Amino acid sequence: MTTFRALCLSLIATGAALATEPALPGKNAVPGQFPRDYRSWTHVKSALVGPDFPAFDTQGGLHHVYANDKAVEGLKTGQFLEGAALVFDLLEIREKNGLSLEGPRRRVDVMVKGGKGYAATGGWWFARYKGDDWEHDLLSAEQRSACFHCHQQPRARDYVISEFRK
Ligand code: HEC
Repeated sequence: MTTFRALCLSLIATGAALATEPALPGKNAVPGQFPRDYRSWTHVKSALVGPDFPAFDTQGGLHHVYANDKAVEGLKTGQFLEGAALVFDLLEIREKNGLSLEGPRRRVDVMVKGGKGYAATGGWWFARYKGDDWEHDLLSAEQRSACFHCHQQPRARDYVISEFRK
């Protein structure tokens, strides 16, 4: 009987722990917080930026773009709801025996849809992190506006440039 009671209590405790666990990865992101689980989101695209690219100094390497579930919906509909987030992950390239391999991380750029509080930048929170330092967002207010201005280019939909390949 004691064992049965202990089992019941432990099941109740497990249920309570599950109820308070954070949202599943990919479900939501919050402006002002680096989305640490982005590597488990949906991969949207990758690109290799070589030495002939005019902005190679700052953009050179291999980048991957990731979207959380809300942003995947936005990529389909062109409208991004609050909590939608995209990450631009830029890595150095390491050449070895004819292979181009992922090297150290150069930086991570983040966009999270934040709603009215972010009206000056199209409703998005823009942030930039150097290398693997995910504690310090590097951007000033002016730099955030610069991100936003570039993200208004013609093929952007709701300031998002990347698209899923057909
Ligand atoms: C010179 C123009 C330019 C500037 C400035 C710029 N971006 Fe981008 N950004 C792009 C382009 C182009 C892409 C798409 C890359 C691709 O197609 O692989 C992109 C992609 C992204 C993505 C992936 C989602 C998307 O829209 O495709 C994020 C997140 C992002 N940028 C964040 C930022 C942040 C944060 C800043 C400011 C620090 C910034 N960007 C500044 C041009 C720019």
